[in-house]
Amino acid sequence: MSDRPRPIIIDTDPGQDDAIAILAALAAPELDVLGITAVAGNVPLELTARNARMICELAGRHDVPVFAGCDRPLRRELVTAEHVHGHTGIDGADLPEPVTNLGPQHAVDWMTETLLGAEERQITICPVGPLTNVATVLENAPETAGKIREIVCMGGGFFEGGNTTPTAEFNIYVDPDAAKVVLGSGAPVTMFPLDVTHKALMTDAWIEQIRGLGTRTGAAAAGMLDFYERFDVDKYGMFGGPLHDPNVIAYLLRPDLYQGRHCNVEVETDSPLTLGMTVVDWWDVTDRPANCQYITEVDADGFYELLLMLLARLP
Ligand code: RIB
Ligand code: CA
Repeated sequence: MSDRPRPIIIDTDPGQDDAIAILAALAAPELDVLGITAVAGNVPLELTARNARMICELAGRHDVPVFAGCDRPLRRELVTAEHVHGHTGIDGADLPEPVTNLGPQHAVDWMTETLLGAEERQITICPVGPLTNVATVLENAPETAGKIREIVCMGGGFFEGGNTTPTAEFNIYVDPDAAKVVLGSGAPVTMFPLDVTHKALMTDAWIEQIRGLGTRTGAAAAGMLDFYERFDVDKYGMFGGPLHDPNVIAYLLRPDLYQGRHCNVEVETDSPLTLGMTVVDWWDVTDRPANCQYITEVDADGFYELLLMLLARLP
């Protein structure tokens, strides 16, 4: 087992839960965040690229390059989620405008160049938004699939249904064609769907622990979470909101917190009724090849203890 930090690229549409995932990754010495690639999703690209830089600067990590990527899905109109995340995408954060500039390249070009320049199976890609950037890299340069150690993504839902339509989760719904490309690429995919993220809900007490850190990160994170959790509480009547995206980072650090199954996952890209549905062959009843480690179980207490410990390390 290498003792060198694991190189990762976070592909993201911040989003309050994306923000917590980015902060957690930046706080973990076990991870080497090579860069952050912004994609259109929760809010338009200009805002996701702005928000990603603000979050890196909140953590004191002005050194982490942020690149702007695709501003719309591969073949569809962009659907955003301001009703969940607010008009800025990170409402509740109350942060200054970014002082760092975007990286000079398009995110797709930077990710492609970085992967092609790496050793085989060295870099982990962590998409926590629509998969448009990653799919474009794989379509433009299929040889990049062999350079990727693992694609660890937040998206999908099967037993739990959808959160955007009755059958589709937001990240996959926004760009189902991209999700199909990623799942068909041959790169190892580990997927964190609603089936697992809905089993680890925030509590008000935990948010108060975050606020109680007494740091600028604690204050910004608590403010974002106060705003963010109301959507799921109102919609599902849950006692707390699911913090979707940080599960990707927690898995990299503590895979023992999670359980799943290697099986076939396909995406509906045509039907208006079920567009964006992830169809999971959990019982292996088809002859479709297993192409995804589909995660369904989490130690919720362990997950939130880990996040608190990580965020406590930041200024
Ligand atoms: O469905 C949840 C996902 O959609 C999360 O990644 C959230 O940030 C939104 O992008
Ligand atoms: Ca996201």
